[in-house]
Parts: sequence; C-alpha cells; structure tokens
Amino acid sequence: NLSPIDTAKFVAAKRAVEFVEDGMRVGLGTGSTAAWMVRCLGERVREEGLKVSGVPTSTRTAELARQVGIKVISLDDARWLDITIDGADEFDGDLNLIKGGGGALLQEKIVATASDLMIVITDPSKKVDTLGRFPLPVEVIPFGWQTTKALVEETLASLDVLGQQASLRMNGEAPFVTDEGNHIIDLHLQRIGNARQMSMVLNQIPGVVENGLFIDICDKVVIGHQDGRVEVED
Ligand code: A5P
Repeated sequence: NLSPIDTAKFVAAKRAVEFVEDGMRVGLGTGSTAAWMVRCLGERVREEGLKVSGVPTSTRTAELARQVGIKVISLDDARWLDITIDGADEFDGDLNLIKGGGGALLQEKIVATASDLMIVITDPSKKVDTLGRFPLPVEVIPFGWQTTKALVEETLASLDVLGQQASLRMNGEAPFVTDEGNHIIDLHLQRIGNARQMSMVLNQIPGVVENGLFIDICDKVVIGHQDGRVEVED
C-alpha cells in the first residue's frame, strides 16, 4: 500500500517507462521518483523480456538498476541514448528545469543531453510559473571553492533575481561531495528572471563545473497525481 505521494511518483514512473522500447539505450535518473522508474523498468525487463541497456546517473541508481535486473553500461559504451527518464526539483511551462537537489546534476545533465528524448517524471507540486523557488545547485571543484563562491555571489548581484544568498551544501559537519568529487553551492534566488542567461553566466566562472538549470533539454513531463491520474505535457 503506497502513500499518496508515492502513488503519484509511481504512476508517473509507470507511464514513462511505456516509452521505452526493445533494444533501447536508456538514461536512468536519480532521486526518489527516478527510483520508481528504475523499479518499473526492471519489472518490464523481468516480465516481458524487454532488452535494454541502462546508463545510470549516479552510483545510487547504478546499484538499484543492477538489483532489479537492468543491464548497466557506461555512457562511453553507449555514446548516445534513445531516451532518458529522470525526476526534477522544479519545472516551468516551457519545460525548463531545476535539478540537482539530490546532488547528481552533472551526470544527469550529460546523460540527458546525450539522449534523443528526455522525459521528466514528477508530481504536480514541482510546477512553477518562474524557476527559482527551489535553491539552484551549482557544482564547483573543491580547489578554491570559497573564491568561486565569492565570484558566484558577485555575479548574482548583476542578474535578474530576487534572492542572492549562496550556501555550501553540507553532509553533516563536512561539505557534501558529489560522485565526481566536487562540492555544491546552493543559490537561494526565489525567482530567476532569465534562466538561460543565468545558466550561461554561471558556467563561465572558473571553478564552476555545471549548474542545475536544464534549458531546452526536457521534451516531456509526465505528471502523476495522488489519485492515480497521469498527465503528459510536451
Ligand atoms: C537529483 O540530483 C535531482 O536532480 C533529482 O532529479 C531531483 O532531486 C528529484 O528528486 P525526487 O524525485 O526525489 O524529488
């Protein structure tokens, strides 16, 4: 028996894996909604004999994919993917996203960009008119991160945002470390007036590896509701 929120995530995941066809190379997202997708895809592999190769976007997802019987390959083995299914932290009416709440934004963005089709699975609570309510994650290399953070803060002052606070993501007492060995600075912006510009400007700062804005990457959003209904936006 699933809780209402898990029902919403599950029905979205279940619908999204219907887009996967035999022989496809599939990008596997990270997070609690994406975990439902990995389980649903594993079920199709076991029950229908569906043949797919999965490229995980985190060590967590790789582990789960193997557990449920999905063949795991690297992005270098796959090179290009047919489809990626992932969660998101926010999406807007143009299907632009904020991702990285789980810290996997770098691999997620590389994998999503390498895919012909990128589908986001979500519940309705993540839809916003303007991106920015969810803190924007920025992945930075550990070397000189405080200098990088100061440069990021300086840059924010010149952009169309409401909030400007930046904080290093922690894991207990120590800085959070991503799968790529980097740190994350979360930007509390409230409202990002020009997300495309924000993304480009952030990525030009030395020490910034990538940011959690996914612009023109997502093709479809599958929204699961707590009563089991599913909507698709594209
Ligand atoms: C992981 O880095 C994020 O981009 C996730 O996609 C995001 O945090 C969504 O996670 P949930 O499905 O758990 O909300």
